[in-house]
Amino acid sequence: MLPEQNTPAYAALVHEQVEKRRTFAIISHPDAGKTTLTEKLLLYGGAIRSAGSVKARKTDKHATSDWMDIEKQRGISVTSSAMQFEFDGYHINILDTPGHQDFSEDTYRVLVAADAAVMLIDAAKGVEAQTIKLFKVCRMRSIPIFTFVNKMDRAAKDPFALMQELEEVLGIRSCPVNWPIGVDGDFQGVCHLDTREVELYTGGDHGKRQVEKTVLSLDDPALADVLAEGYRTRLSDEMELLEAGEPFDLEAVRAGRLTPMFFGSAVTNFGVEPFLERFLQYTPPPLPRQSDQGVIGPESPFFTGFVFKIQANMNPAHRDRLAFMRIVSGAFEKGMEVWHSGTNKPVALKQPQQFMADEREAVEEAYAGDIIGLFDPGIYQLGDTLSTGPKMHYENIPVFAPEFFNRVRPKDSLKRKQFQKGITQLAEEGAIQTFLRTETGREEFMVGVVGVLQFEVLEHRLRTEYQAELVMEPMPFRHVRWVTKTPKPVEDLKLTSTSGRAKDSRGRDVLLFENEWSIRLACENNEGLVLAETATRTAEDT
Ligand code: G4P
Repeated sequence: MLPEQNTPAYAALVHEQVEKRRTFAIISHPDAGKTTLTEKLLLYGGAIRSAGSVKARKTDKHATSDWMDIEKQRGISVTSSAMQFEFDGYHINILDTPGHQDFSEDTYRVLVAADAAVMLIDAAKGVEAQTIKLFKVCRMRSIPIFTFVNKMDRAAKDPFALMQELEEVLGIRSCPVNWPIGVDGDFQGVCHLDTREVELYTGGDHGKRQVEKTVLSLDDPALADVLAEGYRTRLSDEMELLEAGEPFDLEAVRAGRLTPMFFGSAVTNFGVEPFLERFLQYTPPPLPRQSDQGVIGPESPFFTGFVFKIQANMNPAHRDRLAFMRIVSGAFEKGMEVWHSGTNKPVALKQPQQFMADEREAVEEAYAGDIIGLFDPGIYQLGDTLSTGPKMHYENIPVFAPEFFNRVRPKDSLKRKQFQKGITQLAEEGAIQTFLRTETGREEFMVGVVGVLQFEVLEHRLRTEYQAELVMEPMPFRHVRWVTKTPKPVEDLKLTSTSGRAKDSRGRDVLLFENEWSIRLACENNEGLVLAETATRTAEDT
């Protein structure tokens, strides 16, 4: 039983728990090693006994954090999962994000729930195309970004060149926290810039929690016995250069202006533990969030949270729908009654769950910073706020404008019901947006997505989860604009012949265009027409 709200006992409990919480997301280009690193972190935390080790993964492509069929088949991470583990007194929530840019909208929503991001980079490849896109999404949230340069066990790019690449390509300055020794496929270990300690690895074991290592000071003469002269000279020279550079500035890190850089190899465990230790020191505890009632801090004397992700059929054995909530303030207790912004009514938060890959665990209590899954009987929408304090709404989660549109219908008209249910549920998850076009004289159902891979996911999920086959026809539109103000009825607007009119899933008018030019023309030809690039979910919508 939790102590009553607004009591010193409640405040003390929340304070103690909040201090321990760290909630972050991992972003990376596919194949940089995100799944491997996530597994290793879970392993350190004792959350799993052995990493779904690389060998096992090779055969079935199944990693602890990828649970959906299509992910396993394609080896990409489509949806994001949330996992918990304990380490060194910390209670950690990891949010996994899809690596593919076609799912960057999902990434953005996940980042809204995170307080920091770990950006994983393949040491040989440096900053890759999708790292750039995902990084930009992080930047929009201005959260601290930590860089882990992975795969140091193989020939890597020069670490100084990597620092420069981060600055030139991503526009963020970096500050190494540790420095690699041996970058040509002869990775020996790392040297910590804060302690000047050299950590040398003496043996790797993919499944083990602890790697065998020797730790010595850079200035210890005994280092000569364990590290060859060539490495020592190079390291001393490089450390001199680094130490003459800019000092580590935690404030700049927390403001997202400087990225601390770590080097390691997730697959051999080298550098993973020192990364985790320092990362946990530098990454912020649960951050406050902006609401229409002002800024709400984690230690506010009442419980609040918001829904940032909805996922149906996460576990085929359960066939249920879960709403993922980030707790922003206070303490949560199973079964507690809270006010729900979507229905403007109290709801009881039953069957709360936390996740360990495809295993679920019932949650009795949770605190600000935690991510929990709520059983969703169909009442939750993305962005909904839950509160035991004042009625309030957290900042809207923006909806990205789709750039690809397909006309869709069920292959078998007898399966119309399943088709509609599937499309509606997937739209509620935010993976697709639906539009109804009637101007052609018949009802045309359209689906809009941010990245074309989402069409594949839609097709696959409708088939496997709703037993409905789809017929999809691409449409030439590339832009959608929401009509926020119009001088005349939408049907009477003067548009180019290739533009279209439709309603979104909430009945709001939208215009569809093939190019920027026809958008401009629409505004020029219809004085007083105001168009918006995205539809934000507002309190009135719900
Ligand atoms: P992702 O989630 O970011 O897509 O990457 P994932 O962890 O699946 O890793 C991609 C590949 O990179 C895997 O190879 C994995 O073993 C390997 N990998 C991860 N970390 C390291 C590392 O520190 N060093 C080296 N050398 N390799 C690493 P794979 O299982 O062989 O998969 P595949 O490439 O055959 O599909």
